[in-house]
Amino acid sequence: MASHSVHLPLITTLHHSVIFLILINIHSCLCSNDGYRNCGNLISCGKTTNIGFPFWGKNRPKECGHPLMQLTCEKETSYITIKDVQYQVLEANPESHTLKITRKDYLEDLCKPNHVSTTLDTQLYVYETPYKNLTLSYGCSPLSKSLPPTFVPCNEALGENVYAQIGSVPLMSCKTSVVVPVPLSLVEIDDFIKVHEAIAEGFVVRWVVGVGECEKCERSGGVCGVEGSSQQTACFCRDGPCPGFSPDIKTSSGTYV
Ligand SMILES: *[C@@H]1O[C@H](CO)[C@@H](O)[C@H](O)[C@H]1NC(C)=O
Repeated sequence: MASHSVHLPLITTLHHSVIFLILINIHSCLCSNDGYRNCGNLISCGKTTNIGFPFWGKNRPKECGHPLMQLTCEKETSYITIKDVQYQVLEANPESHTLKITRKDYLEDLCKPNHVSTTLDTQLYVYETPYKNLTLSYGCSPLSKSLPPTFVPCNEALGENVYAQIGSVPLMSCKTSVVVPVPLSLVEIDDFIKVHEAIAEGFVVRWVVGVGECEKCERSGGVCGVEGSSQQTACFCRDGPCPGFSPDIKTSSGTYV
């Protein structure tokens, strides 16, 4: 009798371990494709939610997006860098492939910019809505007669000001100028509070990387990422690269529709 009471639990334990090992095996088989497993992760950060390809960052690994399209998340706010300028992401809309962004440096202070004009990497983004250029100029010679009448003092001791004008023509008597897109509604640039508000309102860009290809991939049951040194859009399915997905060839007669 005593031997039974010892053996039964032992057999049960053995039995459980075997099942456990089988389960581990099945699990690792299904998840052997890292691209599929990882690129299913979407990025959510504050108001920006469920962002996938072509972006990566946070819980979404680098191979799941374009190398230049990293979304970073700090204190529930997401940021993206485009051509050396960091932008705060105000809104993101994966359905329309748009981001509403504003320069982080100018949100903080009109006087201390990263002295780089806003330019989009046109391989990645296009302007979605009309905008106009505003030029802010720094290090201007105070004696010059060609300076615009209104300015914000930046360093009164040094007599340094920032001057604003509509358009993207730099002032000759200034050391640097920064061009920023602003809404068409900005007309009164003599009021620097309005100028700052217009910059802070941001502008809308649409991402154009792999958009059609990725939708095709998702319709075929895969998730999008990039692959190889050319960073071409790749489609990962559960068991490896998606068999029906070919980025360069247009599908005929709506196979994936
Ligand atoms: C804004 O300025 C850039 C050059 O800095 C120019 O390429 C672009 O066409 C301008 N956009 C508008 C709407 O004027």
